This record gives sequence, structure tokens and C-alpha cells, in this order.
Amino acid sequence: MDWGMKNRISRIIKPEIGRTVMLAVDHGYFLGPTTGLEEPSKIIAELVPHADSLMLTRGILRTSVIPESSVPIVLRVSGGNSIIGDDLSNETITVSVEDAIRLNVSAVALSIYVGGKYEHQTLKNLTSLINECEKYGIPVLAVTAVGKEMARDAKYLSLACRIAAELGAHMVKTYYCEDFEKVVKTCPVPVVIAGGKKISEKDALELAYNAIKRGAVGVDMGRNIFQSSDPVGMIKAVRSIVHENASVEKAYKTLKL
Ligand code: R5P
Repeated sequence: MDWGMKNRISRIIKPEIGRTVMLAVDHGYFLGPTTGLEEPSKIIAELVPHADSLMLTRGILRTSVIPESSVPIVLRVSGGNSIIGDDLSNETITVSVEDAIRLNVSAVALSIYVGGKYEHQTLKNLTSLINECEKYGIPVLAVTAVGKEMARDAKYLSLACRIAAELGAHMVKTYYCEDFEKVVKTCPVPVVIAGGKKISEKDALELAYNAIKRGAVGVDMGRNIFQSSDPVGMIKAVRSIVHENASVEKAYKTLKL
């Protein structure tokens, strides 16, 4: 791995501890004005001081993040579908690597739908993106998206994560599941977890705690942070679990719900 690639990855996964708290606010690319993200600039400004990186789309980066910000950017570069459309897995690459470089991103992110109707297309998207990004030392985060019909168990998620890593992804984002350690053990690149749909704050902290305990390098969490009634408290609580190995109880007590 070359210097530039390593440097960019270390901006996201903090080398002192090998952990990361990524804030995901890219949901609008297929969900539109998601609850909590109606006015992205406001919530981003509140949360960004506590995030190790920000995962978002080109449009929200340009309009809702000040260019003076020093937060590392993980740019979502796949899309072309919507929640009301035909098939969520029908994605394409939406941003050129040239534009990602112009935006000074630390990594790019793209979804794959292993087992989905457009599995081949999304895996081809991944390999094309990796081939292009390798030229410039830009890390690629593969997101193992799951359609409604796909199981979120260790067997399926290990398959999806391993395929992403085999194809050359530098990091993988997936879901937490029972026997999660199997998913991490069989994936040779760092794994972060998504939070998924909003659950109780206690359960979301438990999710982060268990994922870290079972080998994830961190979280790339969205709705369970920005849809909380205490979003800043929630990202700080997640941070204490990821970076300071805080217990769920200790982290939960700090919230103002
Ligand atoms: C989904 O494809 C997006 O990449 C989201 O950023 C991701 O699901 C993480 O957000 P959440 O924690 O809300 O699931």
C-alpha cells in the first residue's frame, strides 16, 4: 500500500487506537429528506466536532459543510435509485474519481448488493471504482447493503464482506449480527458497522459496544445519532465506547434524553 493510501486511511481510522467514529449523513441519496437530516448543515455543524469522519454525498458536502472544515470526508459515490423506485440494488457510480480528488476526500464509499437483482452490476461498480482509485491512492469503503429479502446473519454478511475485500475494498461497512466475530475474522480488511434504523439509545450503544468487542474498528452510524433527542450526547456516548472502551451503562448515563 502506498503512502497516500495509508495516510488517507489513517485520517479515518485513528492509528493511535485503530478505531473510528464515522458519522453517516448520506441517507438522502435514496431516502430524500430523512428525519433528522431535513436541514443537513445545522445537524452536521453540531455533530462534526465529535466525528472522526463524515460520510456524505457530493451535493451535501458542497452545500452543507464549510470548506474550511478539517473533518476527513468519506464521499458516497454510488446511487441512482430511490426508496420508491423499482429496485434499490440498481446502483451506478455517480461521482468521478477526479471530482472526488477535487473535493479533497479521504475515501470514497459505494454500496454492493450481494445476492440482489443487480449484484453483478454493483460488484462491477466496486471493481471499476477500485481500479480508478488505486491510481491516486484513494481508499474505497464497500458498503454491504441489504435488500428487504436478504438475511442479516453471519453467513450472509461474511459472504458479502469477504467478496468486497477479495475484490480490493480497503474497508468494509456492514451490519452487526449474531456471531459477528466470524464476519470480522473472515474479512481481511477493517470492518465498521452501520447503526441501521433508529432504536433506543441504550440498544444503539449496546450495538456499538458489542461490535467493537467482537472486532469492528468502529462505527459508521447515522440515524441512531442524528434522530436521537440528544444527538450531540449520543455521538459523544458512542465515541466514549469506541475510543475509551467505556461501558454501555457509563456512556448511557451521560445522555440528556
Ligand atoms: C446506507 O446505505 C447509508 O450508507 C447509511 O449511511 C448507512 O446505512 C449508515 O447509517 P445508519 O446508521 O443510519 O444505518
